[in-house]
Amino acid sequence: MKRIFIVGWGPTADEVFYFINKYKLFEVAGFVQYKKDICENNHNGLPVNALEDLDSVIDREKDFVFAAMFWDRLNDIRRVLYEELKARGYKIASLISPNADTNGAAIGENCWIQDNVYIKPFAEIGDNTYLDTGSFIGLNSKVGKHCYIAGKALVAGFCTIGNQTFVGLNSTVFDHTDVGSLCIVGATVGLKRNIPDCSVVKTSGDNTVVKSYEKELMPDKLVAERNLR
Ligand SMILES: CC(C)(COP(=O)(O)OP(=O)(O)OC[C@H]1O[C@@H](n2cnc3c(N)ncnc32)[C@H](O)[C@@H]1OP(=O)(O)O)[C@@H](O)C(=O)NCCC(=O)NCCS
Repeated sequence: MKRIFIVGWGPTADEVFYFINKYKLFEVAGFVQYKKDICENNHNGLPVNALEDLDSVIDREKDFVFAAMFWDRLNDIRRVLYEELKARGYKIASLISPNADTNGAAIGENCWIQDNVYIKPFAEIGDNTYLDTGSFIGLNSKVGKHCYIAGKALVAGFCTIGNQTFVGLNSTVFDHTDVGSLCIVGATVGLKRNIPDCSVVKTSGDNTVVKSYEKELMPDKLVAERNLR
């Protein structure tokens, strides 16, 4: 089995480790941290090397690396990490769940296509883009580099999503919509207009009603026979 080094720290690297092992995609050879001074001795029972020391353990001809970093700072940390790995000339893998249906889409490197993702034909997914669980990319849509499409987000057909953009949980981007680079489409947003680079679209918190009750009243707040419509 081909070997891979997970480059990253924190929960995303742990989830990537779990994912690779679950589907036996690679043999995980170790973890890699950015700098020597923050290096642990081992992680999940595997050795940890600083990026500057990776050449002492990696076989550049055969082994792969994967930058495991979530959307923090609007995907900027993952972008910088990916570009550093690229500049150093490592072989960079993409991770694709066997449960994802990608219909032959062009998928770049360092992409993470998670469980139950559905990509319609002729779509393109740029380098270093993560598609989180259950997300949907429509016919002919183009998602740029360094993007993060969160769980259950729907990007309909013939859309473009610019580089480094974040599309939040359960949001819907209507068909033929162009979303710029470095944008944030907030969770649950329904977006039907093109938006330029560096835009944030979010729902208003004013639409959410929060009320608190005494504990003993709570069962009365969800009674099946009162479901009259
Ligand atoms: C769009 C979103 C980022 C911010 O919206 P919000 O929480 O309604 O923000 P508020 O209007 O209450 O925030 C007030 C300010 O704090 C900022 N803020 C809120 N959350 C922030 C965060 N995580 N990081 C930085 N700034 C944040 C807002 O941008 C806003 O700043 P501004 O007044 O300069 O515009 C948020 O609603 C959202 O959708 N997050 C994504 C959730 C998601 O999909 N998670 C997936 C996990 S995999």
